[in-house]
Amino acid sequence: MGIYSKYIFPRLMDSALSGRVISKYRQNLLSQVTGNILEIGFGTGLNLPNYPSTVKKISTVDINPGMNSLAKARVKATGIEVVQHLITAEKMPFEESSFDTIVSTWTLCSIPDVDKALSEVYRLLKPKGQFLFLEHGLSNETSIQIWQNRLNRLQNILGDGCHFNRNIASLVAKQPWQITEDKQFYIKDMPKIASYMYQGTAIKT
Ligand SMILES: C[S@@+](CC[C@H](N)C(=O)[O-])C[C@H]1O[C@@H](n2cnc3c(N)ncnc32)[C@H](O)[C@@H]1O
Repeated sequence: MGIYSKYIFPRLMDSALSGRVISKYRQNLLSQVTGNILEIGFGTGLNLPNYPSTVKKISTVDINPGMNSLAKARVKATGIEVVQHLITAEKMPFEESSFDTIVSTWTLCSIPDVDKALSEVYRLLKPKGQFLFLEHGLSNETSIQIWQNRLNRLQNILGDGCHFNRNIASLVAKQPWQITEDKQFYIKDMPKIASYMYQGTAIKT
């Protein structure tokens, strides 16, 4: 892993995704968590202050040691017990049906084999367990899609593997769970190319 990925990008990402408006969206999603929780693509721990106060413990997965170490300050500051795993979401060494809730925020854009990661999420959920996601991706406007496709390669480099143009709803729909919430919207006052959001809940039946 290069210097940009390990030291520079985590700081850029932390600053870009830490605003008050974004925190509101995080809180809204995380208000639904229950039981034994896993968060994939934990990053710098930006979700931690946004979990409900009832949450006592979470397990996390992230591939980037730079992200994990930057997260340490938030891990220390929270009252939640956080068990960090420095591993890839495409192959997670947990037993089948281990979690009641799995969370992913601004992460499915970046995972190289996102289908594999989602099949792992499905495997790790208990029956009736829920996958909660809040992700940016392909816009529903053709004029924005054109720019998302044009600038995708550049975003891939600057965003350390991030894609502007993934259709998150289609990717999530490939797993045999039941999608009970599926919202798409822009976050206001952000460039449309990066702010078309997919928020949803998928339940393992
Ligand atoms: C844009 S950041 C978002 C971080 C955090 N989820 C948030 O909402 O602030 C994407 C995160 O996904 C992680 N990631 C990318 N590919 C991954 C993989 N294959 N397995 C696990 N984590 C991965 C990155 O290291 C990074 O921390």
